Amino acid sequence: MGKLIIRQAHYDDLEAIARLDALVFDQNAWSFNSFVNELQLHFSKLLVAELDATFAGFALAWYIADEIQLMRIAVNPVFQRNKIGSALIHNITYYAQNQNKMVLEVANNNTQAIAFYTSLGFYRVGVRKNYYHLNSAILMEKIIYHED
Ligand SMILES: CC(C)(COP(=O)(O)OP(=O)(O)OC[C@H]1O[C@@H](n2cnc3c(N)ncnc32)[C@H](O)[C@@H]1OP(=O)(O)O)[C@@H](O)C(=O)NCCC(=O)NCCS
Repeated sequence: MGKLIIRQAHYDDLEAIARLDALVFDQNAWSFNSFVNELQLHFSKLLVAELDATFAGFALAWYIADEIQLMRIAVNPVFQRNKIGSALIHNITYYAQNQNKMVLEVANNNTQAIAFYTSLGFYRVGVRKNYYHLNSAILMEKIIYHED
């Protein structure tokens, strides 16, 4: 694999982010303007992964009270299974201040994402029935250990 860089997103990245979001989330995609709004929220962080200077994926997280809520993560299918998603999750935790756990919701039929989160140490803590229309949401979380 080439050189991977994870950095905070700028306005100029939002077109590529919204395009990938539409590709992987289809009917549940966010609008371009939703991502514009995220850049203005002080508790929100939008990270971009670049592989050899090519946009490869993004992750969006909210830092609220003692939790990081993972809102969105996607890696371009061409670049999946190269640990880019893992690198995005690790980088999200670098920005933790008072937060000591990361929480997320994933559709119960998204087996690849559930396998991905499990590989990173997330565990299932609950379920919300019919959260995504016909599919339930699995709630997962992971404790963040601070090195200090
Ligand atoms: C989930 C996603 C972000 C993972 O990104 P990625 O860069 O491919 O993941 P990684 O390469 O870091 O995977 C790390 C580990 O997770 C597991 N994993 C990842 N994708 C998997 C898959 N499709 N099937 C089974 N296990 C998988 C594996 O254990 C993998 O390690 P390995 O490749 O050495 O076996 C990516 O598949 C994606 O964008 N999916 C579509 C969007 C989505 O569903 N987002 C989550 C919504 S809640």
